[in-house]
Amino acid sequence: TRLFVPRETTALALGADEVAQRIEAEAEARGVEIELVRNGSRGLFWLEPLVEVETAVGRIAYGPVAPEDVAGLFDAGLLEGGEAPSLCQGPAEEIPYLQAQQRLTFSRIGVTDPLSLEDYCAHDGFRGLRRALGLAPQAIVDEVKASGLRGRGGAAFPTGIKWQTVLDAPAAQKYIVCNADEGDSGTFADRLVMECDPYLLIEGMAIAGLAVGATQGYVYLRSEYPLAQQIFNEAIARAEAAGYLGSDILGSGQAFHLEVRLGAGAYICGEETSLLESLEGKRGMVRFKPPLPAIEGLFGQPTVVNNVLSLAAVPFILAEGAAAYADCGMGRSRGTLALQLAGNVQRGGLVELAFGTTLRQLMEEFGGGTFTGRPLRAVQVGGPLGAYLPESQWDLPLDYEAFAEVGAVLGHGGVVMFDDTVDMAEQARFAMEFCTVESCGKCTPCRIGAVRGVEVIDRIRAGERREANLILLADLCETMVDGSLCAMGGMTPFPVQSVMKHFPDDLQRDAQPH
Ligand code: NAI
Ligand code: SF4
Repeated sequence: TRLFVPRETTALALGADEVAQRIEAEAEARGVEIELVRNGSRGLFWLEPLVEVETAVGRIAYGPVAPEDVAGLFDAGLLEGGEAPSLCQGPAEEIPYLQAQQRLTFSRIGVTDPLSLEDYCAHDGFRGLRRALGLAPQAIVDEVKASGLRGRGGAAFPTGIKWQTVLDAPAAQKYIVCNADEGDSGTFADRLVMECDPYLLIEGMAIAGLAVGATQGYVYLRSEYPLAQQIFNEAIARAEAAGYLGSDILGSGQAFHLEVRLGAGAYICGEETSLLESLEGKRGMVRFKPPLPAIEGLFGQPTVVNNVLSLAAVPFILAEGAAAYADCGMGRSRGTLALQLAGNVQRGGLVELAFGTTLRQLMEEFGGGTFTGRPLRAVQVGGPLGAYLPESQWDLPLDYEAFAEVGAVLGHGGVVMFDDTVDMAEQARFAMEFCTVESCGKCTPCRIGAVRGVEVIDRIRAGERREANLILLADLCETMVDGSLCAMGGMTPFPVQSVMKHFPDDLQRDAQPH
C-alpha cells in the first residue's frame, strides 16, 4: 500500500515527520508492507498533517493527523481507505476546498513526490519546455503575451512585454532572475512551489531563458526558507543530470544554467533593483529607474526579473497554449491568482482561483470565517503595504483594476484576516513602524517620513492635538506616496490611509503610549 505524508514546512511544523515515523513503526509492528511517499502539501493547511492512502478508488485523505491518532487509524482500516471517524476527509481530490479551485499552476502540489522527475513527467511536466525548444524566441514571447499573464509578484506588469524588452535588448549575456524573497505577511505560495513542485519553477525559468536568449538564471531565495533551499538545490542537480538544465538541454544545443542565491532577511531585497544589488554582492539599496532591469539589470546586462509565481505559470501556458490560460479570469486580469489565506481564519491555505471571485466568497466559502469564531472586522490584502478592507469592500471581485479603484492592491495574493478585537490604530502604527525597520534609507520621504509617521500616530493615540495631528498624518501619507523612490515608502501609507478612512473611530480612542 502506498501512503503519502507531506514533507513541507507547514506540515512539518504541525508534526508530519512524527506522523510519518509512527506510520512506519506501526506498519512494521503489524507486519504489513507499506511504501511511504513524502509528497508536497496540497496547501490545505488546516488539515495538515494530511495523510493519504492510495486505494482502488483514488487517494483517501485523513487529517489533521496527530502521531497518537496513527494506531487508531490502522485499527480503523487506514490501509484500505477505511472511514476512520472524523479524520477521514474522503477522496483527496473531492475535498470541497480543493475541488472548488482552478489549479493551473498548483495542479501538482501535494500530488507528486517533489523530487521525483518521473512523477513530474508523468503529470505533464516538461511539456512546456519541450514545446518551447521547438519554437523561435519571438514565438515563445508571443505565447506569453497572448496569455495575458501579468507579474504575480504584485505589480501586475505584463510578463510578455517585459520579456519582449529583454529579447530586443542586444547583449552577449542576459539573465533570468527569479524573485523568491517572499516577504509579505501571510504569504507562502512561492515557498509551496519550491518545496512541493520545484521542477515547475526550473521549467518556467528555462523557458524564460530560451525566450529572451539568457543562458544563466539565479533564484534569489530568502534565507528563512531552508527546506525550500534544500529541495530546490537537489531538484537543480537532478534536472541537470537528466539533461533538462545545462549546456545542451535535451540535446537541443541550447543552454540554461541555474543557481540559488540566499538573501539575508531584508524585506527591501524583494524590490527588484535592491535584489539585483544584493545578488551582485552589495548592500541591498534601491537603484534609480530608468534604466529598467530589462535593459540594464544584473551586472549591467538585460535581465528578466520575475516572481516565482509568474515563472511558475509559464509551463502551463506553453504546454496548453495561451488561450487555455487567458480563458480564465476577468477584464485585464487573465488566468488564475494564488491566494494565501492567513491570519485569524478557520481554514488557512492556498486557494488558486480565476480572477473574479469576491473577497467575501474567498473568506467565507474557503476560509470558513475567523478562527476565533468572532465577527470578521478587517482584512489586509497584498502584504504589509496593502490596504485594510472593511466589510463594505468585501464584495469586490479579485481583480487588479477593481482593487486599484478603491486604493487597494492584490499584490502577491496574501489575505490576512482580523476579527473584531483588532485595534486598527495599532495596525496603522505597525505599517509605519515596519517601514522604519525595512527602509533602505535612500530617499527622505520613506527614511524620515516613516519615523515621523510612528510619532504622529502615537500622539494621535495619546489624544494629543488629535485633529491637527490627523491632518498632519494625512499630509505625511500623501508626501510618502508621491515622493518615495520605490514601493516601500510609496505604499506604506496605503494601510494607514485605509484605517483613517474606514476605521476612524479606532484613531479617536486613547491607547497606551509605546
Ligand atoms: P513597478 O510597477 O515599478 O514595476 C513592475 C515591473 O515591470 C518591474 O519588474 C519593472 O522593471 C517592469 N517594467 C516596467 N516598465 C517596463 C517596460 N516598459 N519594459 C519592461 N519592464 C518594465 O513595480 P515594482 O516596484 O517592481 O513592484 C511593486 C509591487 O511589488 C507592489 O505593487 C507590491 O504589490 C509588490 N510587492 C510584493 C512583495 C512580495 O513579497 N511579493 C513585497 C512587497 C511588494
Ligand atoms: Fe529606500 Fe524607502 Fe526610498 Fe524605497 S522608498 S528607495 S526603501 S528609502
